[in-house]
Amino acid sequence: MIDLRILDSPEHAARAAAELLAGAARAGGHIALSGGTTPRRAYQLAAELEPDWGPATVWLGDERCVAPDDARSNLRLARESLLAGLHRPPTVRPVETELGCEEAALRYDRSLVGVALDLALQGLGPDGHTASLFPGSPALDVTDRRAVTAQPGLEPWVERVTMTVPMLATARLVVFLAVGADKAEAVARAFTGEVDPETPASLVRSARGRTIALLDRAAAAKI
Ligand code: 6PG
Repeated sequence: MIDLRILDSPEHAARAAAELLAGAARAGGHIALSGGTTPRRAYQLAAELEPDWGPATVWLGDERCVAPDDARSNLRLARESLLAGLHRPPTVRPVETELGCEEAALRYDRSLVGVALDLALQGLGPDGHTASLFPGSPALDVTDRRAVTAQPGLEPWVERVTMTVPMLATARLVVFLAVGADKAEAVARAFTGEVDPETPASLVRSARGRTIALLDRAAAAKI
């Protein structure tokens, strides 16, 4: 079951995501952030809406195995667009990519033991991937780990660490944020089609709360 919310523009969709992020931060939740380009505006707005993230803990739903200052780093995206705008930062639990992907995934998996997310912000690739769970990936079948390494199925072509489907499903609120015509096909498959490992986002739903998809009209054009 998923709640589809179609907003008038990417800015409206970003604001809707920002309001949910700010609410989770105020409540002191465990928040898993997405990477990519779409969430940047939502993070900027979330920092404006709620500058005090002190009570919250921020995780990364996935990370590219690059240095933290690399332009492809999802931690760098969060640092620049969210954390930099806060009066009080959250506890940040980065993926320790400096250890190498395998060790970083093992450490992240261990640090997530006992953690239930309050909010997982998910992007959507044009191929239907979310986090770094790509179509047909072995990572989609993992049920006994909270984080694993994953091979890229789209650029950037670097190895990743990704939360697994069951880890993302712990989120009380799973929020997909997808905008733009290039996502319309994936949106239709992910949110109105059958559960299908060829569209990994169709596998990711909250197991203990709600799943929402925030879409602009262009991304919602095929539903
Ligand atoms: C990542 C993201 C990934 C992203 C989608 C959409 O590490 O790349 O977590 O899942 O959300 O690829 O990316 P865009 O927002 O750039 O379209």
